[in-house]
Amino acid sequence: MKRVGIIGIGTYVPDTIVTNIDLESKIDTNDEWIRSRTGIEERRIAGDDIDTSHMAIQAAKRALENSGLAASAIDMILVATATADRPFPSVACMVQEAIGANNIPAMDVSAACSGFIYAMATAKPFIETGTYQNILVIGSEKFTKTLDWEDRTTCVLFGDGAGAVILSEVSADKGILSVDLGSDGSGGDHLYIDGETGKIKMNGREVYKFAVRQMPESSLHAVDKAGLKKEDVDFLIPHQANVRIIDAARERFGLSKDKVSTAVIKHGNTSAASIPLALFEELEKGLIQDGDVIVLVGFGGGLTWGSVCMKWGK
Ligand code: UT7
Repeated sequence: MKRVGIIGIGTYVPDTIVTNIDLESKIDTNDEWIRSRTGIEERRIAGDDIDTSHMAIQAAKRALENSGLAASAIDMILVATATADRPFPSVACMVQEAIGANNIPAMDVSAACSGFIYAMATAKPFIETGTYQNILVIGSEKFTKTLDWEDRTTCVLFGDGAGAVILSEVSADKGILSVDLGSDGSGGDHLYIDGETGKIKMNGREVYKFAVRQMPESSLHAVDKAGLKKEDVDFLIPHQANVRIIDAARERFGLSKDKVSTAVIKHGNTSAASIPLALFEELEKGLIQDGDVIVLVGFGGGLTWGSVCMKWGK
């Protein structure tokens, strides 16, 4: 079996920044409530001219450039999203055309905020077995189009953006060591997009309880499957929903604050885009080194969860 790793990464966020203070004039909320309950300070919001596919395409182009590969070298495209431009065609097919890839398989993956981890896990065996060489995996969300601006319990939480990676064969001592995925449909009503109105509905407290239990459990399970101990983990990239939930996971690993991403502070919750966005920013800051053991872990609507334990590098 070939070892699968990330050989290129790129992101895109819209230019418009909306701070908590900006929201105070729009809805009945305040900066102190948002910061203390979630850690969020600001988020990027896509205008009418920017949809999910646009952000996915920009992130994909940047990931390709970062990898040094031409679009013609990509063998498959997977896009994790809950906010596709249309029910079909998939965002993945729109990316295929826009980047000039060959007539390769392309599809969207629906696992809400866990979608990027699900898409990575879906891509992995194709490369391991030699079926495909290079797979473009993207998380892209224009979550703000699902927001009900009358519902202050959800509209302050989310932002827009995209992140993309190229998965390919890497050396035998690097790359993905293990994957853990799961779902529990009995909690589906706690977090969903209403089919009639297109707006998000959430029971925040139930999702919170689920997240603080399931995120550490899944990530520790992945570490165990990799034959490692939690002390071996150098950096944690959790789904960026809420700093309190991230802290709960961090404490289970016994990691210091500088070893866990809190990109949510500047981006809000970008759903399936949050993990690649956070990974990119930590790499840019130089906080993840070649050979580091990192864990990517997501949770979200479904309910779903998923973790990838990997050794960084090519
Ligand atoms: O990708 C997965 C997505 N979801 C999540 O990760 C969400 C998980 N849940 C959470 O992060 C938290 O449950 C929230 C941040 C959403 C809410 O925090 P909480 O501590 O559970 O607050 P709450 O919903 O219990 O509300 C407490 C109070 C309420 O007022 P009363 O009834 O006690 O008078 C709310 O009406 O805070 C009020 N409130 C607000 N106040 C100002 C709710 N939203 C706001 C707001 N601004 N935006």
